[in-house]
Amino acid sequence: MKGIILAGGAGSRLYPLTLVASKQLQPVFDKPMVYYPLTTLIEGGIREFCLISTPQDLPRFRQLLGDGSQWGLRIEYREQAKPEGIAQAFLIAESFIGQDAVTLILGDNIFYGGDSFQKAFGGFTSGATIFGYHVNDPERYGVVEFDAEGRAISIEEKPRQPRSNYAVPGLYIYDNGVVALTKAMKPSARGELEITDVNVEYLRRGTLRVYRLNRGFAWLDAGTSTSLHEASAYVQTIEKRAGIKIGCPEEAAFRRGFLSLEQLDALTGRMPKCEYREYLAEVVAEAKRLAHPHVA
Ligand code: DAU
Repeated sequence: MKGIILAGGAGSRLYPLTLVASKQLQPVFDKPMVYYPLTTLIEGGIREFCLISTPQDLPRFRQLLGDGSQWGLRIEYREQAKPEGIAQAFLIAESFIGQDAVTLILGDNIFYGGDSFQKAFGGFTSGATIFGYHVNDPERYGVVEFDAEGRAISIEEKPRQPRSNYAVPGLYIYDNGVVALTKAMKPSARGELEITDVNVEYLRRGTLRVYRLNRGFAWLDAGTSTSLHEASAYVQTIEKRAGIKIGCPEEAAFRRGFLSLEQLDALTGRMPKCEYREYLAEVVAEAKRLAHPHVA
């Protein structure tokens, strides 16, 4: 499974924050926003990534994430010259996707809790898998409607009169057929290749699965200055209470076995003195204790 992180767009709703740094590079509490979706996919077992952004912002992402080898990953970069739709990602990343299945995650979607995604990745064979999350403002999103048996029966993009309260979050899993399907699509009235049209086509073919994310799951939006602040507050609260970090790619790569304990230790040692380093040093110390329980 390959992973695409879509991190373009103008970020105009965050103006003036986005005058010099793109939305997905803004801090969400103690890390850049893009760390969160990247970590979500690492936790799902994905190692090969393509990050798509604007020509102006791409150099910053390269500077931040490099080629991924420091985390046991491979990260490629591609430009999206104009924001012509989320589904355009499959055309831009066609050579990266190759013959594989692919997960697309939006660079401003932050998820926390549960193992629904890991299960969905593990169980994925063909077709498409998307998710439904109960919200009180479904008209702002793609909206999925279910029948009495829990089967998805319709999906609409930002409907004026939503048929349910289930919004479709920005994490989508597709088989390799998504590239050909997107090539055959026409832009919508607003001139974009719509991700909802991709999902509607899989639904029409009878190969779309929709999992409902349960109540214990958090999906945060960081698209406006208010929601960005709220997302930061949420992350801070959980991290302080539980003594863990959300959206920490080093830790996720280590727990997934992409980085050895020695590599994580060395990586941590190269960081400047800060809370982030202290946290990872504790992860390393704990792993060493578990590996050698009798050493003082
Ligand atoms: O967040 C989930 C929602 O994301 C879904 O429920 C909707 O079905 C989906 O259309 C999308 O809605 P948004 O209104 O959030 O889409 P927006 O145009 O704001 O784009 C989402 C992110 O993707 C944003 O951070 C910018 C990036 N993007 C978007 C487009 C259209 C790109 O990088 N390139 C693009 O061409």
